[in-house]
Amino acid sequence: MEQINIAIDGPAGAGKSTVAKLVAGRLGYIYIDTGAMYRALTYKAIKNGIDLHNESQLNDLLLKTDISLSSDEKVFLDDEDVTKLIRTEEVTNSVSFVASHSLVRKKMLQRQQSMAKAKMTVMDGRDIGTAVLPDAEVKIFLSASVEERAKRRYEENLSKGFPADYERLKAEIALRDKRDSEREVAPLKKADDAIEIDTTLMSINDVVTTILKIAEERT
Ligand code: C5P
Repeated sequence: MEQINIAIDGPAGAGKSTVAKLVAGRLGYIYIDTGAMYRALTYKAIKNGIDLHNESQLNDLLLKTDISLSSDEKVFLDDEDVTKLIRTEEVTNSVSFVASHSLVRKKMLQRQQSMAKAKMTVMDGRDIGTAVLPDAEVKIFLSASVEERAKRRYEENLSKGFPADYERLKAEIALRDKRDSEREVAPLKKADDAIEIDTTLMSINDVVTTILKIAEERT
C-alpha cells in the first residue's frame, strides 16, 4: 500500500481526534494532534503571564519552546507532561486568540510539515487540508450540528466526572468556531478538494470505516 498523509479538519467537538486516532491505529500510521500544539503554547503563555494578544511576545515564547507528541498520545512541553493541563476550560477558551497570530501559525506550520514529511500520518486540526498539507492524498472535513457536538462534550465531561453544563458548552463551542473561522490567517475552512462527512447521525465506527474506505481508494 502506498504511503499517504490523511488530513482531518473540522470544527470543535466534531470527533476529529477520536476518529483520527482510530484511523491511525488501523493503518499503523502516526497520529498528530495539531490542536494540542496550540494548546501547549497557550498553557505556557498563561503560566508566564503573557498577553495572548501580543503576537511578538508569543512568537518569542514559541521560539524557545519545545512541544512534542509521543506515540502514546501524551503531550510534552519542554519535557513536562502537560497532556491533562492543556485541556482545562481556561486553555480551551483562550487558545483561539493564540492561534490567530500569523507568526505563531507560521512556526507551527513548519513544525507540523516536518512531522508529516515521512508520510504515514493522520493529522487533525483546522487548516491541515488548506495550509499545512495542501497535497495530502486524503482530505476529510468532519462536521456535525453544534447541538450534537455540545451533547457529545457534555456526555464526555460527565463520564470523566467533570462538571458539565450543556448550554454553556454549546455557547463556548460556537464562539470558538466563530473565532477560528473568522480569523485572517488560515481560518477553519473546508479545502475545496476535501470530502465532507456530516457525523451528526453517524457512529464513530461508521466514520472510521468511511475514512478507511476513502484512504484505500486513494492508495
Ligand atoms: O483541536 P482542538 O480543539 O484541540 O484545537 C484547539 C484550538 O487550536 C482550536 O480551537 C484552534 O483555535 C487552534 N487550532 C488551529 N489550527 C489547527 C489546530 C488547532 O488554529 N490546525
